[in-house]
Amino acid sequence: MLEINPTQTPAHIRHGSSIGQPLTRRDGILKVKGQAAYAADHHPPGMLFAVIAVASIARGRVTSLDVAAAKAHPGVVDVMTSTHKPPLAIDPDIKTNPFVFRMEVLQSDEVRYANQSIAVVIAETLEAATEGAALLVPRYEALPARVGLDAGETFVPPVVGVGNPTENVHGDIEAGLAAASKTVEATYETPPQYHNAMEPHAIVVAWDGDTLSIDTPSQAMVMARARVAELFGIAPENILIRSPFLGGGFGSKGFLTGPQILGVMAAKLVGRPVKLVLRREQMYGPVGHRAPTRQRLRIGVDGEGRLTAIDHHARTVSSSYDDFYEPAAGASHTLYASPAIRTSHEAVRVDTGTPLFMRAPGEATGSIALESTIDEMALACGMDPLAFRLKNYAEVEPITGKPFSSKALRACYEQGAARFGWAKRPLSPRQMRDGDGLLVGWGLGTATFPAMMFQAEARAVIRRDGTGVMEIGAHDMGQGAWTALAQIAADGLGLDVDRVEFRSGTSDLPDGGIAGGSAHTATAGNAIHNAGAALIARLADLATNDERSALFGAGNAGVIARDGQLFRRDDESRSEAYPDILARAGLAEIEARGMGGADTAAQAEYAMHAHGAVFAEVKVDPELGQIRATRMVGAFAAGRIINPHLVRSQLFGGMIWGLSFALHEEAIIDRRSGRIMNANLAEYHIPVNADVPSLDVLTVEEHDPHVNALGIKGVGEIGITGSAGAVANAIWHATGVRLRRFPIRIDELL
Ligand code: MOS
Repeated sequence: MLEINPTQTPAHIRHGSSIGQPLTRRDGILKVKGQAAYAADHHPPGMLFAVIAVASIARGRVTSLDVAAAKAHPGVVDVMTSTHKPPLAIDPDIKTNPFVFRMEVLQSDEVRYANQSIAVVIAETLEAATEGAALLVPRYEALPARVGLDAGETFVPPVVGVGNPTENVHGDIEAGLAAASKTVEATYETPPQYHNAMEPHAIVVAWDGDTLSIDTPSQAMVMARARVAELFGIAPENILIRSPFLGGGFGSKGFLTGPQILGVMAAKLVGRPVKLVLRREQMYGPVGHRAPTRQRLRIGVDGEGRLTAIDHHARTVSSSYDDFYEPAAGASHTLYASPAIRTSHEAVRVDTGTPLFMRAPGEATGSIALESTIDEMALACGMDPLAFRLKNYAEVEPITGKPFSSKALRACYEQGAARFGWAKRPLSPRQMRDGDGLLVGWGLGTATFPAMMFQAEARAVIRRDGTGVMEIGAHDMGQGAWTALAQIAADGLGLDVDRVEFRSGTSDLPDGGIAGGSAHTATAGNAIHNAGAALIARLADLATNDERSALFGAGNAGVIARDGQLFRRDDESRSEAYPDILARAGLAEIEARGMGGADTAAQAEYAMHAHGAVFAEVKVDPELGQIRATRMVGAFAAGRIINPHLVRSQLFGGMIWGLSFALHEEAIIDRRSGRIMNANLAEYHIPVNADVPSLDVLTVEEHDPHVNALGIKGVGEIGITGSAGAVANAIWHATGVRLRRFPIRIDELL
């Protein structure tokens, strides 16, 4: 329900009708019936299949490919190589903006990492293309691969991630450490991880002259369209990208990757539509990953257990040819009050595909190290880990001194601890056993993620029949955008959600911005809200200025939009239905647009973050070292919750990923070849149902008047932060062994 008072802008939402309801996914039935078309489900007439051949070395040059053998295979139409390919309008290695990452699109015979594309075979069938790729038998001139955190040249780029300062200093670290009565210094290592979205990167391309139709999963269609436009020298308006459903993205579909561009090139080369789908093992290289880290933390406390310094240094890797790396140390900016905080980063150039944003980039890796170190210090102080965290609770953002726009972390600690039963936790390790003699341990981790906003636009329509339309090129990665954004649309238009046609998922709609940074619901949602508010204001204008309307002269009293009608705010017995207002004005429909984006003034004044507290129980077999997580409780405060059902699922997913971070995930790279040895879902371990304990999620009430008009902070990434540290701390509590290398392994525990 939307209330409009012409004397007040922006419009004020009265929490109610659709927002806040636990609707199930509106696209759920389509998905379970297999009727939701994902990119690779498309088969335009005359379509060919493209398969990439990838490098089996990590560094060097391709010296020969048996193109003739591949071409001779029945069904093979063409083989695209670095010397036989359509021209691009610009060099793909030129960074035309900070959101452009270099990609391998056969620009030369150079190999920059294992699994890099070195040719594309295009054929009448998938089988023929696959066989053709096998017949290429590449030969190489190989150089030794640079692998791991100690290889290669170390560098310090000006920014980490996109736009974060490499080094951030507040106060005097050395003075803080010198004044400390206790210090803890510890080094943590986290492994390379791969996104492994269930749906592989895929693209179906059909050229028609200079216009282009593309089906591909994207977390940012308008950016993707701009990239294709510049690479192929055509107008963005001539490109239609359809991306209604994604089988996960986690950051790996934020930018078009090399293989997707190769699909567009292949279709151009052969003059027919082409489909290109990565195989699972081909996703370990060209589509980004989470870089490994080695993080050194030094912290100090005074005699009362108050922090005097946090020094967090992260060493990580980047590729030999681009600069992205994991901004891990940034996690220490937000959580704990300290007169001195320093975060710094350096990276090593290795022979890998460029790392990229992967769910909670920086916060996930940084938080596991910070939360473990904080527990090490609580132990040194003889304090309960929760009491130690409360003692060092940040009332303002420590690194900047800004007040928080809202922060209900204390309530997260309290409610989570109560639900978990934390008060019964013995201080010392190895104190609890279950009925089977297994060691039981309880651990805590604090969760944090910034509340960001990008830019988006929406278009709203109300039609003469009283139904509404909301258009926005938003992205549903599986998180439920089709549902949550439609709920915001319904309230914005004063209609039941079933009376609103929600149109989304294609690049010809108003720009829905980026589904990333946990900011999509906030950004697209506020655009939708503003489009609805603008439309209701136009409708109210029509009614209140017309003496034939029951609302005539409502003037400063204003109107309320609800159930397809406008009501006088001061006398709700007087109302008029939308169709009547439009009919009298002789309009078939009425439309308005709205923008959503950051309030830079509010951002300058306030620190904006979501928070949470995760409590974990593990059981460890004292003889075998086998670790089982048995219980996790997460309490999160993330501003307004649009759909508690979907939010719970997001937080479950994040907590499971945190568990996976602590116990399972690791890409193992062969030091001799630079190849990933477990590039498949059988050997790259992720938790299965049997690994996932009983999960409990609490959402803690939080009203944020500053973060955006709807008060949304976002929940996409915060669940992974805190959770990994909670599991690691629980393992310490069960066993008394502090492991600083992740994932935690049985052999190191015994
Ligand atoms: Mo997320 S890593 O911003 O898609």
